[in-house]
Amino acid sequence: MLASTHSGSLIGISATSVSVEANSGERGDPRVVLVGLPDAAVKESLDRVHSSLSNSGFSLPRTRVTINLAPADLRKEGSSFDLPVALCLLSSTKQLSTQPLQHYLIAGELGLSGQIRPVRGGISMAMLAKEQNLKGVILPMESAREAGIVQGIDIFGVDSLAEVVDFLEGKVNLKPIIHRSDASSQAPRYEFDFSDIKGQYNLRRAVEVAVSGGHNLLISGPPGSGKSMIAKRIPTILPTPSLDEFIEVVRIYSAVGQGGALDMQSMIRPFRSPHHTISDVGLIGGGATPGPGEISLAHHGVLYLDELPEFKRSVLEVLRQPLEDGVVTISRSAGKITLPCQFMFVASMNPCPCGYLGDSNHSCRCSIPQIQKYRAKISGPLLDRIDIHIDAPAVDISDIQDSEKGEDSKTIRGRVEQCRQIQSERFKDLKSKTNASMSDPMVEKVCELNPENKSILLQAMNHLSLSVRAYTRILKVSRTIADLEQSERIQKNHLLEAIQYRNLDRKII
Ligand SMILES: Nc1ncnc2c1ncn2[C@@H]1O[C@H](COP(=O)(O)OP(=O)(O)OP(=O)(O)O)[C@@H](O)[C@H]1O
Ligand SMILES: [Mg+2]
Ligand SMILES: [Zn+2]
Repeated sequence: MLASTHSGSLIGISATSVSVEANSGERGDPRVVLVGLPDAAVKESLDRVHSSLSNSGFSLPRTRVTINLAPADLRKEGSSFDLPVALCLLSSTKQLSTQPLQHYLIAGELGLSGQIRPVRGGISMAMLAKEQNLKGVILPMESAREAGIVQGIDIFGVDSLAEVVDFLEGKVNLKPIIHRSDASSQAPRYEFDFSDIKGQYNLRRAVEVAVSGGHNLLISGPPGSGKSMIAKRIPTILPTPSLDEFIEVVRIYSAVGQGGALDMQSMIRPFRSPHHTISDVGLIGGGATPGPGEISLAHHGVLYLDELPEFKRSVLEVLRQPLEDGVVTISRSAGKITLPCQFMFVASMNPCPCGYLGDSNHSCRCSIPQIQKYRAKISGPLLDRIDIHIDAPAVDISDIQDSEKGEDSKTIRGRVEQCRQIQSERFKDLKSKTNASMSDPMVEKVCELNPENKSILLQAMNHLSLSVRAYTRILKVSRTIADLEQSERIQKNHLLEAIQYRNLDRKII
């Protein structure tokens, strides 16, 4: 007797349709054969299925049964086929009616006693089931909680094989998981707040400008000046993500099995801070079973590279293209996969190898060639993609004791959102949505300077020995500063502030 159901195979962060079929009553030894390009983990599935069937009180097939995972040319990986395979076996041996199985997409790993364990990519499975107009999707409880954010399809969370069978037989009634639809109107709840940062007015201002215009940022300062502290708080002032943006984030985390780490009721933006020993693959993604790297885990949030010059040059080089495109393409044996990675790039470094150049409390013992060598570790093309360089001066302990609490994240986020609104209207019909990502022709159009300001910029370029690449960066940042003041035109004070944010283009004196 033939039974079948729907499942999915996770490729990158997307699920591809796989149908699971079982045919019993075949001639030959009484055993179960699995066909359809399964990998080692899928083959092991049969042992788990056998054990969970008998431990859940079902009988094992007494004839030969063939299980087919179709299409046969798609490599099937992982343990998520356990549950659909077990259910098809039950159905083909008449222990479960065949009819209801055809209406659901089913995925889940089985434990030996029949309990159901989470799978990666539950949310992508739910999206696939929705595309296929199925009645619903049956997932392990933990995976179903992540998937519940997908609207327009019934998602059922289950804990054991016996429970699924009872549900499909209509013996128990399960309620679909409903994600609270008011989540989009909730303010995100972050662990940290900008008000924790005392003093550091210039640094805080530069960060606000960077976030407002979507500009990448490099913070340079001595040890203990609060670089990491402020970087960690950047997600808290980014605009509250839309529900669709948050779904994209959950989808990536769910694909790497980290969906459980997200609070589904508070839409917060990711903050990723990989160590400088990270490999290319760890950063941009890939591997034997190609999956997302840190840049995709930072999608719609912040990627922070602390101690930038310590990263291997090859790692920084592979970052360039994704920074530009907002997507990363990974080659695999069966073709390419493309993963999203739109993030704000924030980096920090010491001003020199000893860390104390420009610090009034300590003297720097580095020679100019040593400093040059240290800074040269960051390539020009990477620096090109960072609009704002800012110094974080050492803080006096007395400053920290005296200063009042700074402004809170919510207030700053309000200004950022207003500034982003101006940009969305400006770039309404265009691909780029922020000042940072506008094209050169657009810069000419919206960053026009009057003759006086033009000559100020030229003088500054000469006087401070700024590189040519700094020119457009300064104009874009000036545009953001003008937008923060809701000024139609770029004024002198906007330009002067933007010029200050090119520290690393200056010669070392
Ligand atoms: N502006 C500030 N307001 C309040 N606390 C601060 C401030 N700056 C630094 N601190 C305190 O100093 C600690 C060290 O700061 P942080 O780790 O951010 O420095 P850093 O610049 O990243 O140093 P390193 O170069 O060693 O990584 C913080 O955990 C915080 O307690
Ligand atoms: Mg630090
Ligand atoms: Zn030094």
